[in-house]
Amino acid sequence: MKDYKMKTEHQFTVTIQPGGRQINAKAGTSLRLVLLGAGVELDGICGGKGICKKCKVKILLGKQALAASPTEGLSKKEAKAGWRLACLVPVLENLVVEVPLKAKEDDRKAQLVSVMRKAKPTSSILKQCITIKKPDLDDQRADLDRLAAAVNLKTLSFAYQVLQKLPLLIREANYQLTITRDGDRLLDVEAKDTSKGLYGIAFDLGTTTVVGSLIDMYSGAVLATGAEANLQRSYGADVISRITYLIEHDDGIITLQQKVIATMNKIIRVLIDKAGILAQSIFAVSVVGNTCMQHLLLGVDPRHLAFAPYVPAFQGAQQIAAGVLGLDVNRECVVYIAPNVAGYVGADTVGVILATEVDKSDEIQLVVDIGTNGEIVLGNKDRLYSCSTAAGPAFEGAQIKHGMRATQGAIEGVTINDDVLLKVIGNTDPKGICGSGLVDLVAQLKIVGIIDSSGRILPPEKLKGLPKKLVERIIKGEGGYDFLLYAAETGQSIVLTQKDIRELQLAKGAIFAGINILLKHAGLDLGKVKLLLLAGAFGNYIKIDSAKAIGLLPPGIKTRQIGNAAGYGAGLLLISDEEKEKAEAIAKRVEYIELSGMVDFQEEFIKALNFA
Ligand code: FES
Repeated sequence: MKDYKMKTEHQFTVTIQPGGRQINAKAGTSLRLVLLGAGVELDGICGGKGICKKCKVKILLGKQALAASPTEGLSKKEAKAGWRLACLVPVLENLVVEVPLKAKEDDRKAQLVSVMRKAKPTSSILKQCITIKKPDLDDQRADLDRLAAAVNLKTLSFAYQVLQKLPLLIREANYQLTITRDGDRLLDVEAKDTSKGLYGIAFDLGTTTVVGSLIDMYSGAVLATGAEANLQRSYGADVISRITYLIEHDDGIITLQQKVIATMNKIIRVLIDKAGILAQSIFAVSVVGNTCMQHLLLGVDPRHLAFAPYVPAFQGAQQIAAGVLGLDVNRECVVYIAPNVAGYVGADTVGVILATEVDKSDEIQLVVDIGTNGEIVLGNKDRLYSCSTAAGPAFEGAQIKHGMRATQGAIEGVTINDDVLLKVIGNTDPKGICGSGLVDLVAQLKIVGIIDSSGRILPPEKLKGLPKKLVERIIKGEGGYDFLLYAAETGQSIVLTQKDIRELQLAKGAIFAGINILLKHAGLDLGKVKLLLLAGAFGNYIKIDSAKAIGLLPPGIKTRQIGNAAGYGAGLLLISDEEKEKAEAIAKRVEYIELSGMVDFQEEFIKALNFA
């Protein structure tokens, strides 16, 4: 049959390679928005402003698009081959574009370090196999009433799906059922005895990366872990740019909520495949994350977090059915959103405190969780202080010229002697540098004297005493000198630029200043701190000596890397109602120190920018 559907003259077709999928696009729309709208995963952290240079696509067909879009930030070779920044390409004709395949998120993000404590499972969510009395002419009670009688609870309430399933299921199963309940509420019924299979997922909702762990609700054992890039990243690298996006777009909050749910669903699929279980047997989900991420997951507008006095819409724990959110688990699965401390110290920090029990320590401890934001906790069983500093995404490899996430091909470690030795994830050719590699590299350059204390890469003529091979790596770049890290035979190179070092200085300065402000508020000096716990995936992989050498962490304190403590805390919250009570108490107890607008912080920040 002939297709009479006409494209309006203002619509064009964009064909996406590889795969050949075709989508319609309104004339003049940015190619990036068209691709994102079609669910294509694109890098990009500047919200489509042409700044981050990450949203590269190759225009295979589209003369006008090639001519109309700028090539700044691309190498000559890339520009000639048709690469463009998708956010700067207007759709003015039918296009064929090639989108680079995404690297798989590194599982290192998912790793939970088991130096933390265990908790006894005490969840109100449980399964129970029951036998129901069969009806007869002398006992014509409704199916639901006889089910309630078998459970022996007068106040039982039922999820809608129980009512729907019951009449057929009860007979198919010959009156033997397994019920799943949360206290007095019946969530689901299954035929026969499935009481052994009860699972939950603990999520750590990071601004950049989302991590999930599938957990056996009875034993607390972690069955599988997985991590995915947060699909919201295409809408901004940090919480402020995501809030800006939702303010500027009518459906922004819906888009951002859908993206985080889609990320979680991706992880759920990976986890259930790994463990070989059914999504329907997942009845509990716990979520920790920063306050903004918690809002976005629930579709609650977080815009007031961006403006003084930075008030969140909610602070305490929330509970909601998974079906309402659209999570691909049992629709009655109970989703527990952990409590936040304040607008900029969220449930992820509560999770860290819960996991490390710094709130019970006799000695003063410092906990630093480094991500896009750096959350810092200082204290012991008597008092706890916390603050959050905007470290920015440099530690995640973003806003760095050749920065990348810690995936295959990322330089994660650097040693400099007579020349440069690189440690690359996956032992392949390097593609870029991740946060731990960046810290290592800058520390090494500082130690050998290529970078001075202000962070400047010195010109070759000032480095006479250094090995020739090292000096030859210092090349002229935009706004100063670059350090050549790797040059492939293809002509592609990986460099550290002066601007990259400045980004790192801002990030490490923010963290260090935050630590100093908390110490000031507590009336303590560093000598009183007995243990420094470094949380987060990034914190788990940096070399402590390098972090101290660049002034990211204070020297002279015993330091332990504890991995994804926030995710571990989410696991505790998943399986234990007692832990939920503790989390509520912690969230209320922590004294939050607001850094923005604080003159002290500005002074500490400026002091902390330089390398010692
Ligand atoms: S340059 Fe396009 S999203 Fe940043």
